[in-house]
Amino acid sequence: MSRFLLTRTLPEHATDAALRADVLHGLTRTPKTLPPKWFYDARGSELFEEITTLPEYYPTRAEREILLARAPEIAAATGARTLIELGSGSSEKTRLLLDSLPELASYVPVDVSESALRGAATSLLADRPGLEVHAIVADFTGGMVLPGTPGPRLVAFLGGTIGNLLPAERAAFLASVRGLLAPGDALLLGTDLVKDESVLVRAYDDAAGVTAAFNKNVLTVINRELGADFAPDAFDHVALWDAENEWIEMRLRARSALTVKIPELDLVVHFAPGEEVRTEVSAKFRQDRVRSELAAARMELTHWWTDEAGRFALTHATAV
Ligand code: SAH
Ligand code: AVI
Repeated sequence: MSRFLLTRTLPEHATDAALRADVLHGLTRTPKTLPPKWFYDARGSELFEEITTLPEYYPTRAEREILLARAPEIAAATGARTLIELGSGSSEKTRLLLDSLPELASYVPVDVSESALRGAATSLLADRPGLEVHAIVADFTGGMVLPGTPGPRLVAFLGGTIGNLLPAERAAFLASVRGLLAPGDALLLGTDLVKDESVLVRAYDDAAGVTAAFNKNVLTVINRELGADFAPDAFDHVALWDAENEWIEMRLRARSALTVKIPELDLVVHFAPGEEVRTEVSAKFRQDRVRSELAAARMELTHWWTDEAGRFALTHATAV
């Protein structure tokens, strides 16, 4: 028998409060910023899924290649009975893991996007009778409360989403993940790798303009939730490689001088012509950095698997 439970860690008004605080803080500072987690309303989650099918966006295909080749090894290294997945989205690649974990009793997807969690659970439960799916709507950077499911636990964080956290956020996040791991548990971490700048920039500035629509979706979210009057087409989508920090930055650049009202915040925001809002960083990694950031959070890199072309890595790590 299939079982599905959905828990909201945060009441709706706390999500509102977080969005308000982020928009107020981010749009009144110089340079302006917005955190990437607000891309993912139902439309943003759909746009991300479309991105994963674009010819230029290789990370999803590269990670799927690794999972296809290595799922039995991953399963042997963990023997997990509970799979906790942070930022699970559609859970599409996760199926490859589920297929190779015969002992698995519970799947706990955690995501800010309730629509993505519901869609993923509906399609998973149709195919996997007997699996308990306990979905959690929560911010994975903000102290999740997880159900008491059986161990060993495998905590998966796929897709390279860790790269969307800034270095200090990443350190705090990894420390909190370490707090979830008991002896015998493991972390499975997907990281996109440093590579040729032109390949990276194309992956974030596709010819069909899907990533541009995804980027501008954050303005639509602010319009709907906070009554703002952003005209998304008054901004250009910008993707650039920051070689010093080894991350891609996505920005929205005002095409002309603009004034935007955000009534729910009693705020008027001015943009100079060409002024930019940073909406996302997507850090790219090397093995040394993954190893040292895990070590700083008292975890040890135990396996490192890449796709044939060396574009993306999956790391298996345990608590020390
Ligand atoms: N893991 C999937 C989806 C990656 S997209 C894959 O590899 O394809 C990033 C996912 O993380 C989205 O579903 C988004 O809603 C979720 N997300 C982003 N920031 C989050 C946060 N702070 N807390 C919880 N989920 C978050
Ligand atoms: C979810 N995350 C890993 C994606 C990335 O590649 O950084 C989000 C994304 N942004 C633009 N395209 C995809």
